[in-house]
Amino acid sequence: MVLCESVAETGQVAAEIFASRIEQGPCVLGLATGSSPLPVYQYLIRRYRESGLSFAQCTAFTLDEYVGLQPYDSRSYRATIRDEFVGHVDLPTRSLHSPDASDPDPRALRHAAAAYEETIRLAGGIDVQLLGIGANGHIGFNEPSSSLASRTRIKALTQQTREDNARFFGEDETVPKLCLTQGLGTILDSRHAVLVAQGEAKADAVAAAVEGPVSSACPASVLQLHPHATVILDAAAASRLQ
Ligand code: F6R
Repeated sequence: MVLCESVAETGQVAAEIFASRIEQGPCVLGLATGSSPLPVYQYLIRRYRESGLSFAQCTAFTLDEYVGLQPYDSRSYRATIRDEFVGHVDLPTRSLHSPDASDPDPRALRHAAAAYEETIRLAGGIDVQLLGIGANGHIGFNEPSSSLASRTRIKALTQQTREDNARFFGEDETVPKLCLTQGLGTILDSRHAVLVAQGEAKADAVAAAVEGPVSSACPASVLQLHPHATVILDAAAASRLQ
């Protein structure tokens, strides 16, 4: 665990973990969307611009995607990750993968989920997986009660998650109810999991994940079983740790 003095420092510490793996040669990155990873992406973009950190040999996989949004929809996580990170560095567009959740037909979604797992496997697995945490302890969109062994699949978003993410949608738009998300088992397979959390709203979830029992009630607690997990917190997110 790394305790940081500022939000910016959480970004720098996580980004340096990514940078040192990227500098070793071709690698597979796992990317998260949302507010928590933004300082990480900002720092990585700076490293690309100012010190020539190249992503040309990287492959990237996003964690999750809303069902029913087309990849070019600005609210899709694929578009978001392009706008906030990948589009600002030299990671080739063909090397960015995300679950294809555009067709809401359940059979198409099951097929897309299995295909995503296979694409990750064929890429050799994820070397470094960036994670945020939901106020209810979710990672990816593995909401409480998710199986600790789950793989990429269709998942219903909780009302709280839909409300938390309503800020990315217009007032007259509804937040999708379903998503495709990598499973907790998929995340456990990554070689290094890096979770970043900032702010008091995450403090209870962080305490449950780090100090509570390993339980599907707090999906992030599965990281206690991960052989190489790093949790990077600012003071507010760490404030309920014993
Ligand atoms: C997003 C994701 C989610 C978020 C979590 C925290 O791809 O997988 O688990 O990381 O909801 O979101 P923020 O960072 O916006 O508080």
